[in-house]
Amino acid sequence: MRAFPPYRAQVVTGIPITTREQRAQALADAGYNAFNLRANMVTIDLLTDSGTGAVSTGQESAAAAGDRSYAGSDSFFRFRQAITDLTSFPHVFPAHQGRAAERVLFASLLKPGQISLSNTHFDTTRANIELLGCTARDLPCAQAADLDSHEPFKGNIDIAELERTLAGPDADQIGMVLMTITNNGGGGQPVSMANLTAVSEICRRQGVPLILDAARFAENAWLVTQRESGYAGSSPREVAEAAFGLVDGCVASLKKDGIAPMGAFIGLRDTELARRCEMNLIATEGFRTYGGMSAHDLERTAVGIGEVLDPNYLAARAAEASRLAQQANDAGVDIVQPAGVHALYLNAGRLLSHLPPSRFPGHALACELYLRGGIRCAELGSLYLGEFDDDNELVTAAPFELVRIALPRRVYGQAHYDYVADVLADIAKDSERVPGYRVLEAPQLLRHFNLRLAQV
Ligand code: F0G
Repeated sequence: MRAFPPYRAQVVTGIPITTREQRAQALADAGYNAFNLRANMVTIDLLTDSGTGAVSTGQESAAAAGDRSYAGSDSFFRFRQAITDLTSFPHVFPAHQGRAAERVLFASLLKPGQISLSNTHFDTTRANIELLGCTARDLPCAQAADLDSHEPFKGNIDIAELERTLAGPDADQIGMVLMTITNNGGGGQPVSMANLTAVSEICRRQGVPLILDAARFAENAWLVTQRESGYAGSSPREVAEAAFGLVDGCVASLKKDGIAPMGAFIGLRDTELARRCEMNLIATEGFRTYGGMSAHDLERTAVGIGEVLDPNYLAARAAEASRLAQQANDAGVDIVQPAGVHALYLNAGRLLSHLPPSRFPGHALACELYLRGGIRCAELGSLYLGEFDDDNELVTAAPFELVRIALPRRVYGQAHYDYVADVLADIAKDSERVPGYRVLEAPQLLRHFNLRLAQV
C-alpha cells in the first residue's frame, strides 16, 4: 500500500497563475534574485520549508485559546510541558525563531576566540558564532562529499576528525560541539543514533558541551527508523527522545518540525547556563514565559511537535520527497543521494555543465525553474558559498553547485509535485540553452539575500 497523508484540506488558499512574459518581467525587476520576488508572482513556492507549513484545526483551536498574559501565561506552561515530555530538558526557554535562540544560547555559552565544531553549521548558526568573535568549523563525514553515494547517514560528523581536533593544539579552545539534525547545509542528510552516541561519549569524556540544532528532529528520527539497524521497531518519538537524551542542550527552530509560522526554543540541563540564558533572553527577546513568541504560536507549536511525530504523516512526507527525487532522476536531473525529507538538492553543476562556477549554474537552474514554471527555490552553490573579489568576480568556487527544492509541510499535493517534475524534465531536454549569470551589485554582509544579477 502506498503512504498517503493523514489529513485533508479544510481551508485552502489560491495560488497565482502567471504567464512567461509576466515572470520574465518580474524576475528582471527583481535583479534575478528570487528573494526580491513578490510572492504573488510565485506559483509553487519551494524557497523554504520554514514557517511555511499548513497549520491544523487542532493547532488553530489551541491558538484561539491562547493566553496572552505577559508573565506566567497558561500557553507557556502547555508549551513547556510538550517540550519537556519530548526532550526531558529541565530548563526550556521560548524564542521567536531559531536564530534568536542561537544568539541567546551562544552568547551565554561561548567566549570570544572559542571554536564550535559541527557536522555542518547552518548559515545563521555560523553567523551567530562568528558575531561573537568565535570560529565555526565543519567536520562532515567523508561520505558527504560524494553526492551520488547512497550511504544512509551522510549527515554524520567525522568521528576520527572530531577526536583528532579535541586532542590537538586547539583542544582548549573548543567551546561546544553542535550537531545539526537533519544536516540542512549538508544536503538534508540525517545523523545516525550511532554517530550521535559516539559524539556524546567523546564530549562527555572531554568535558565539552554537546548541543543539538534540532530544527528537523522528527524527520531525522523518521530516517533513523527507516535506515538504522536496531531502530526499525522504534517510533519516531522514541528515537527523538533518545536523541535529546544524549545531549547537554539544544536550540530548535519550531518553524520546521513545529509546523508553525513562528517559534523556537532553547533546552538545557545546566542550571547556571540556563540562568545566564534567561537574563539574556529577558533583555533581548522577551520575558521567560514568552521569549518573543505570541501566545498563538506557543499553542500552535505545542500541538505541532506532537502532530509532526505521527508516523503516518512522516511516512507520507518522506514518500512525497522520494517520489519527486525519482521523477527528477528519470528526467535526467541528478540529486544529492539518497533523498532526505525536507528538501531535494539538485546537482545543477552536472545538469548545466556548459556553465562554469563563475556563471553560477545553481542560480541559473533556479531562475530557469521560475521562468518556465513559476517555481521558486534557492541556490546552494558558488553564488551563496563562493568567495568574491571587489569587482564581484568569483575567486573561489563552492565545492558543489546545487539547488535546494524545499518541501513545505502539508502544503502541496502530488499534482503540484508532478508539475515541478514536468518543468524539470522540460529544462533537462535542452539544458545547454539555459543562460548563465553575473553579479552586478552585492553587499558585503548577507550577500545572497540582496545581490542583483544580469543574464549573460
Ligand atoms: N538551524 C537550521 C538547521 C535551519 O535550517 C534554520 C533555518 C535555522 C537553524 C534558523 O532557524 O529560520 O527559525 O531562525 N532554516 C531555514 C531554511 C531558514 O530555509 O532552511 P530560523
